[in-house]
Amino acid sequence: MPSPQASSQQEFPAPVSGLLIPKQNQDSRISKVKPVCLTFQEICYQVYDKSRKEDKLILKDVSGYAKPGEILAIMGPSGSGKTSLLNIIGARTVSTSGYLMKNGRPVTVQTKKDMGFVSQKDYLFPTLTVRETIRCYADLRLEESISASQKAQRVEDLLKLLQLEKVADSYIGDEISKGLSGGERKRVSIACQLVHSPNILLLDEPTSGLDASTAYQVVKILRDLASLGHTVICTIHQPRESLFNMFDRLIMLSQGETFYFGSIKDTLEFFAAKGYHCPQYANPADFFIDVLTGTSVSEESNVRKSIRASEFYDNQQGLQIVRSVEKGFTEALLESKAAEMQPLDDNVKFATGFWHQLVVLTSRSFKNELRNPLSSFVALSRTVFMSLLVGALYYRSKLQEPSAVFDRQGCIFFVLINVAFSTLASIRLFIEERDIFAQEKNSNMYRTSAYFLSKCVAEFPLLTVLQVIFAAITFWMVGLHDNG
Ligand SMILES: Nc1ncnc2c1ncn2[C@@H]1O[C@H](COP(=O)(O)OP(=O)(O)OP(=O)(O)O)[C@@H](O)[C@H]1O
Ligand SMILES: [Mg+2]
Repeated sequence: MPSPQASSQQEFPAPVSGLLIPKQNQDSRISKVKPVCLTFQEICYQVYDKSRKEDKLILKDVSGYAKPGEILAIMGPSGSGKTSLLNIIGARTVSTSGYLMKNGRPVTVQTKKDMGFVSQKDYLFPTLTVRETIRCYADLRLEESISASQKAQRVEDLLKLLQLEKVADSYIGDEISKGLSGGERKRVSIACQLVHSPNILLLDEPTSGLDASTAYQVVKILRDLASLGHTVICTIHQPRESLFNMFDRLIMLSQGETFYFGSIKDTLEFFAAKGYHCPQYANPADFFIDVLTGTSVSEESNVRKSIRASEFYDNQQGLQIVRSVEKGFTEALLESKAAEMQPLDDNVKFATGFWHQLVVLTSRSFKNELRNPLSSFVALSRTVFMSLLVGALYYRSKLQEPSAVFDRQGCIFFVLINVAFSTLASIRLFIEERDIFAQEKNSNMYRTSAYFLSKCVAEFPLLTVLQVIFAAITFWMVGLHDNG
C-alpha cells in the first residue's frame, strides 16, 4: 500500500500568478491560479453495451486526488478506462456513482469554466493561424471587461511559453493543406486551454504520436505549469523513464480497477513488495504495464498470470487517505486568507455574454469562409448551372401563348426548389465543425444559440449573392420582365 504524504497546511501553495506574465501586465482576472485540490472517491462508471445487450462496468470504485503544483498521471493498458476517468474528473461525463470534489465542494457542470481540457485529438480550425486561434479562445474565455490589449498580451505570453512564436502566423492546416506539425498542434491545443489560466488542466494522452524530444517538451511544459500552481492531470501510455519521473503522482488502472495510487517514487518499491521486481535496465512504465497485462513473471510464483487488482491495492485504505487529504486541503484553504479573498466563482456558466460570443464566433466563421474559397466556388458553379438550366428550359416563354402560364408556374417551382436546396447545402458547415463545436461547447465557451446564429450570419452574404445571381440569370433568360 503506498503512503501518500500526510496532508499538512504547508504543502498547499498560495495562489500564484500564472504563465510568466510581466508584472506590469498582470491582471488578477487573467493570471491568478487558485490552488485546487481535486478528489474523486469511489467512482463507478457503467454503460449499457448495445452490442452485448448488457451493462458494462468501465470503472470500479476508483479513488484518488490531484493537488496543485503536482502532475497526476493516469496510466494503464489500452481499454483500462483512462479516458473514461479523465472525462469524469473533467465533469464531461457523469459517473454512475461516487463523489467528485473540488476543495471540498462538489464539482458541477458550471465549474467546468475553471478547467482546461485537452483531448487526445486536436480540434482546431485549419484555416486560422496559431495566433488567431488562441486569440479567439482568449476572446471567448476571458471576461469581457478585460481590454483587447491585455488579451493580445496574454496571447503573446502563451505563444512564448509554449514556444510557438516561430509559427504564430502559420495556418493550422489539416491533412489536405499541410500546416503545423503534430507537436505544434498539440502545443496550440494546450495554449488554447490555458488562456483563462484554469486551476485544473486535464490532458488525454498529450504525448501520443509525438517523437521522444517533442513528448519531453510537452511534459516539461506541464511540469512548468504545475510549478506555477496549476493542478495537472493527464493520461499517458507507457512513457519513457525520463518522462515517467517528471510526474508526481500516479494512478494505475487495469480493467477499470485501481492497481496503484500514490507517489511516483514509491511505485517500484510497491511493486517489489508484491514480488514484482523491475529489472535493472528496464523502463519502469513498460514493466508496470507488463505486470498489469500478465506478461511479467512474479518471482514468488514464477508463473505468468493475470493478477487481480484486489491482490495489489487495498481500496478501502486508499479511500481513507483520499478522504483525509480532502479534509486537510479544505481546512488549510479555509484557514488561509487566500480562500476568503478568492471564493470559487461557480455560478457563472459562461465567461462572456451572448452578443460578445456572437460577434467573436461570426468573425471566426467569416474568416473560415473567406479562406476556404473552394466550397464557395462549388456553390457558385452549381447556382450558375441551375439557373442556366432553368433559363434554357423556359427560354423566352411568351405570355400570349396559353401554355405560358404553366411554363411560368413550372419555372417558379424550379426556382423555389433551388432556394430550398441551396440553404440545405449549409448543413455541411455544421457537419464539418461538429467535433470542434462539441469540444468547445463541452468547455462552456459559448451558448449553442450564439454558435448557430453566428453560422447563419456568416452564411447570409454568400447565400444572398447566390440567390441574386440565380434570379438575375433566370429572370432575363425566361423573360419574366416581359409582360406580353
Ligand atoms: N460509452 C461507452 N459505451 C460502451 N463502452 C464504452 C463506452 N465508453 C468506454 N467504453 C469502453 O470502456 C473501456 C475503457 O475505455 P477508455 O476509452 O476509457 O479506455 P482507455 O484506457 O482510454 O483506452 P486507450 O488507451 O486505448 O485510449 C473500453 O473497453 C471501451 O470500449
Ligand atoms: Mg483513451
